[in-house]
Amino acid sequence: MTEALRCQRDQFQLPRDYHYFNCAYMGPLPRISEEAGFEAIRQKRTPTSIAAPDAFWGTDGLRDRFARLVNVRDSGRIAIQPGVSYGVATAARNLPVDSSQNIVITHEQFPGNVYSWRRLAAESGAELRTVVPPEGANRGQGWNERLLESIDMHTAIVAVPNIHWTDGTYFDLIAVGRRCREVGAALVVDATQSVGALPFDVEQVQPDVLICATYKWLLGPYALSFAYFGPRFDDGVPLEETWIARDGSRDFQRLVDYQDQYLPGAVRYDVSERSSFFLAPIAAASLDLLLDWQPSRIQEYCHVLTRGFLSQVGELGYSVEVEEWRSSHLFGLRMPPSVDLEVLKDSLAQRNVSASLRGTALRLSANVYNDQVDVAVLLEVLQGAVK
Ligand SMILES: Cc1ncc(COP(=O)(O)O)c(C=O)c1O
Repeated sequence: MTEALRCQRDQFQLPRDYHYFNCAYMGPLPRISEEAGFEAIRQKRTPTSIAAPDAFWGTDGLRDRFARLVNVRDSGRIAIQPGVSYGVATAARNLPVDSSQNIVITHEQFPGNVYSWRRLAAESGAELRTVVPPEGANRGQGWNERLLESIDMHTAIVAVPNIHWTDGTYFDLIAVGRRCREVGAALVVDATQSVGALPFDVEQVQPDVLICATYKWLLGPYALSFAYFGPRFDDGVPLEETWIARDGSRDFQRLVDYQDQYLPGAVRYDVSERSSFFLAPIAAASLDLLLDWQPSRIQEYCHVLTRGFLSQVGELGYSVEVEEWRSSHLFGLRMPPSVDLEVLKDSLAQRNVSASLRGTALRLSANVYNDQVDVAVLLEVLQGAVK
């Protein structure tokens, strides 16, 4: 059995009187990643200290780390991109769909994984099928069942998250992937709210695309994301024609021997200036921490941290999805009717508790820097909010 992870608060610089349950909004930067960023900025004082090959090796190292995190054997299948919408647009550009087909998404999905599909559906005449959760008990299970039922022989694309960004509802992507393969549909996953804190195994799920922004659970910088592209995309067309993704681009002396041939794998889908000297070292340092901590242990840490708290607030009338169908690092707490949301918002702010109100639910997202002190303060606020 692997050893349980202890609290990692000392790796961060969160003030002690600050209770951060909002990693789903933005992850705090670990000390070591902050230092890597400062060092990277200092390097540009003397441009020659940024030697040409670093532009490649820096990103090769990033691909390799992300590939290990999500169990991809060939790190050349990872593209370096500037955000989730970019990865989704790349996928949409390369997936054929016609008016007899449908594209499946989930209700109130994050817009970065919606707008490209709306455009593709409008332009092709395909149906955009939004899977809505059932009301009442067994919502998570029922939502998963509906998702599987909505995928049929006419489904061209299934574009979903691993967990829902508003309330942490878990989607069983191994089952979804299996169903996609049965009908020949492409599976595009936006795992921004899960990868880093929840295990994801590309070999098991077999998605065609897996996209993840780095500024939340990967504890990295803004404006950087990773995207895995499977074999379906090997001959695809990128959004931009970058020179760096070409055969022979490492040889700066021969760059004007123009090459139509892309490098193999997903490198063709890299954004221009992908070798971001400032961002890459920050992301790499954070990925090293996550690889050491391991997503399964982070998930377990969050589970242990919040389970007692959830049973206590449960007695006060707050409710949460059953454990099997939600994550432990991100979940939505539904309020008892007596709670005034405006009053709750003020009390959270007064006690320096950061969390997000999403509709009528409180989205709580914990991570390895949270401890029982944070949980105790949160509990006091929620107790106080019940009349
Ligand atoms: C599920 C999910 N995907 C993606 C993003 C960010 O998308 P983008 O990188 O396109 O800004 C967010 C941000 O909140 C998110 O919650």
